[in-house]
Amino acid sequence: MKKILLSGVKPTGQAHIGNYFGAMKQMMDLQNSGNYDCLFMIADYHALNLIQDAKIMREYTINLALDYIAIGLDPKNSIIFKQSDISAHTELTWIFDSITTMPYLMRAHAFKDAEAKDKEINVGTFNYPMLMAADILLYNTDIVPVGQDQKQHIEYTRDTAQKFNNIFGKDKEEIFKLPEALIMKEVAIVPGTDGRKMSKSYGNIIPLFASRDEIIKAVMSIITDSSSDIPINVYNLHKLFTSEEELKTIYNENKGKYKKLKEVLIEDIDDFIKPLREKREKLKENISQINTILEEGSIKARTIADKKLLTIKKSIGVN
Ligand code: TRP
Repeated sequence: MKKILLSGVKPTGQAHIGNYFGAMKQMMDLQNSGNYDCLFMIADYHALNLIQDAKIMREYTINLALDYIAIGLDPKNSIIFKQSDISAHTELTWIFDSITTMPYLMRAHAFKDAEAKDKEINVGTFNYPMLMAADILLYNTDIVPVGQDQKQHIEYTRDTAQKFNNIFGKDKEEIFKLPEALIMKEVAIVPGTDGRKMSKSYGNIIPLFASRDEIIKAVMSIITDSSSDIPINVYNLHKLFTSEEELKTIYNENKGKYKKLKEVLIEDIDDFIKPLREKREKLKENISQINTILEEGSIKARTIADKKLLTIKKSIGVN
């Protein structure tokens, strides 16, 4: 039997090249390794503490599904679904709430950071780790690929599983399997157009599905400093798309010619993005097909989750 892999992504807007090399590509590689039964969840309820506009929620959700299917999520072999479609997630969250203490949740980094910014923190943000534990534990998940920032959430998930097993597991019977985090190391720090880490909040991104014009605009805006022959911000981006061996020749032949080097980078980024962009545009012409994929994914996910929830309900005496 293959190991079960579950991953969740919040729909929060436009994917960029930093997201791709930081997480999306690695998820595809895990899927394509053939070593796992994969579930990919759109964590729309987790996004609800940020996105409180129906139109934007719908738009971002479809965008995320399009992004992932365009880069290679395979709905035939993986289960792609929306968290809000499976009511077992919120139901199990309540059950976990009842065995979890407030001081324990107050120790979460994400909660402390949010509280430091604004004391008027919503209950959903406070409770975020319990919904995430439910996401993971409903599917007997073995492996959860996440960025370093989510490591603590997996620890919360494990603690909660263990606590539940201790309270409700009869005769040492384990109701929940303890999942492992698979920390996705950033393949490289992907620099933005200003040389800082690529991030939407810095306004320095190159969109993953950028049009040619957007690529040109972004690359031409890369900040170069004239202290060396090699424009380092250009080079650091370039090496994500072109082997360093090839780059050596190109950068040697064009010492000090920043504009020319940027033009080469534009072509190399466009070569990479073009097929993805075209695939996404094709998919976008048939949104009902994307909705069907999500519906079919939900049917599969629900079968697993509801069965698990029944076992859980039996163990606490409410079925
Ligand atoms: N909290 C994750 C993030 O912000 C998203 C997420 C929600 C998730 N549920 C999950 C990740 C379950 C892995 C498993 O990135």
